[in-house]
Amino acid sequence: MGNVILAPSILSADFARLEAHAREAIEAGADWLHVDVMDGHFVPNITIGPLVVDALRPLRQQTGALLDVHLMIEHPDRYLADFARAGADRLIVHAEACPHLHRTVQAIRELGVQPGVALNPATPLVMLEEILPDLDLVLIMSVNPGFGGQAYIPGSTAKIGRARQMINAVNPQIWLEVDGGVKPDNAAEIVQAGANVLVAGSAIFGGKNPVATNVANFRRVLANL
Ligand code: DX5
Ligand code: ZN
Repeated sequence: MGNVILAPSILSADFARLEAHAREAIEAGADWLHVDVMDGHFVPNITIGPLVVDALRPLRQQTGALLDVHLMIEHPDRYLADFARAGADRLIVHAEACPHLHRTVQAIRELGVQPGVALNPATPLVMLEEILPDLDLVLIMSVNPGFGGQAYIPGSTAKIGRARQMINAVNPQIWLEVDGGVKPDNAAEIVQAGANVLVAGSAIFGGKNPVATNVANFRRVLANL
């Protein structure tokens, strides 16, 4: 099944010891750090901004774990340069928030950052058709964005399968990332449908088990595919 990337969402980490908590996940074998930026407008919740990306930069330099920054915000164009300066390796914008998506994607590329586009559960894949050749990553939301700890929407699996076909027809190198309600229990189904990047927040940083155990539980499932 090739190498599947595990990208813990720091939204569910302990912000009082963010670097140490994120480091635990990386040292246990996670690959990237997924950073959920929410503005209280595009989604109901408010989370973090460029300062937190900047605070993760030393960890990124030491470990090589890419900073995968998911912008759930209105008017993302206004903030792209700030996030690039803060050290984002990838900037993912929502198709629903970008009336001039092509311009936004080119702006990300010109900043020297990898562009990604996310789709909400009710947004059809056809929204990607024209922009796909310009992307490094497609993000399929498997919950309605805004909060960690929500349940995976079952219909997402079929959508992931169709997204995989679209990507393979254009450029199989484009990452296919899935975000929301991803657990060791459904990881196999999601990867078999065609995803190669799994975001997980509560399944990595929540619950009673140590982060290393949670990462190992994902790795065990992925190793058996
Ligand atoms: C959802 C965010 C996700 C979320 C994932 O709004 O984009 O990244 O934090 O959290 P879990 O894995 O708990 O669903
Ligand atoms: Zn996210």
